[in-house]
Amino acid sequence: MAEVTELKSFSFSKLSSTDNYDEIAALGKEIVEEFQKVGFLRLVDIPDFEDKELLDAIKFYYGRPKEEKMKLALKRFHAENKNEYRGYMPLVKNLPVFKEQTDFGNDSIVEPPENAPDYEKFTKEKNCYPHEEFGRTVDKFYRIYHDCALLILRFLAIGIGVEESYFTDFFFENQTDQHLSTFRLLHYPPKGKISNLSDKDIPISTPEHSDSSLLTLLSTFENYGLQVRNKENTWVWVRPVKNTLIVNLGSMIEEITEGKLPATLHRVMDLGENRYSAPMFVEPCFSNTSFLKILRSEKNWTDKKYKNYGEFSAKTSGRHGEYDEITENPKFKFFPKEEVLHNGVGNGIPFELA
Ligand SMILES: [Fe+2]
Repeated sequence: MAEVTELKSFSFSKLSSTDNYDEIAALGKEIVEEFQKVGFLRLVDIPDFEDKELLDAIKFYYGRPKEEKMKLALKRFHAENKNEYRGYMPLVKNLPVFKEQTDFGNDSIVEPPENAPDYEKFTKEKNCYPHEEFGRTVDKFYRIYHDCALLILRFLAIGIGVEESYFTDFFFENQTDQHLSTFRLLHYPPKGKISNLSDKDIPISTPEHSDSSLLTLLSTFENYGLQVRNKENTWVWVRPVKNTLIVNLGSMIEEITEGKLPATLHRVMDLGENRYSAPMFVEPCFSNTSFLKILRSEKNWTDKKYKNYGEFSAKTSGRHGEYDEITENPKFKFFPKEEVLHNGVGNGIPFELA
């Protein structure tokens, strides 16, 4: 039976108010050690973070009639719509994944010029909301999550002995924070029978993977489901704790630090009940190129050539790839197919909404 693990907690309020240099350095080291040992930690005491407000908004959003939800669906699911990146992804029958999800981006991003390449317009696409109040709630939590990301990245840099702003500089374009982070709201309806944490044959709803972001912040509300692979190579449950965020590192930071800050494997189990979760995948800004450099060197960690993070993201991200066998991924319009990571087995297979 998988055991329940307690993640080490770090207080946002304490991290952001400490001004003693020795204390800051010690906390940085502690955070780095935790990522190396466990790969996950918990952020607590986050100002204005009431997860019930976010959960109520998510339940409202997914509780609306199917036709309403489809008005904001990605074009690949609903040809009349214009949005291709930021929008609703419906429940689809006969796919390995059974979830509805929506990606929201940075509302403060500066709109690209008319002559910008199509993939730039794609990565900077505006959000669509069912109404303004919902948009304000999403934007409020988007900012809270991103503030948490800035704080953790600052301490990570201190902890590994580089300039404090080493990672957070990836977000800035003309002195403004133009990061392309994705805030994803997810609903996994129950598929199988109700299971207890101690059951042996609990179905998997998201197979094991590590995230491709710099880091990921996650609220699982009151839901169990997330499992982390620990250093003994066994899966353990992460206990949900109210008003906190779970933080883990993505493969980008693993590459930059040559494995010093590793991305940890995790998966999601289907316990037979409605599950809601809200991760933010933290990403650099469009024009950034320093994310490609190995720390303290001028060498890139990949041999492939990318003009900037925007191109890297559009070509290498596996995002929305779970639908590639039923509908065409828009990224194939921007680049030759062989240059782009391809998750699906083809496209054009008719699909049916669940
Ligand atoms: Fe993940």
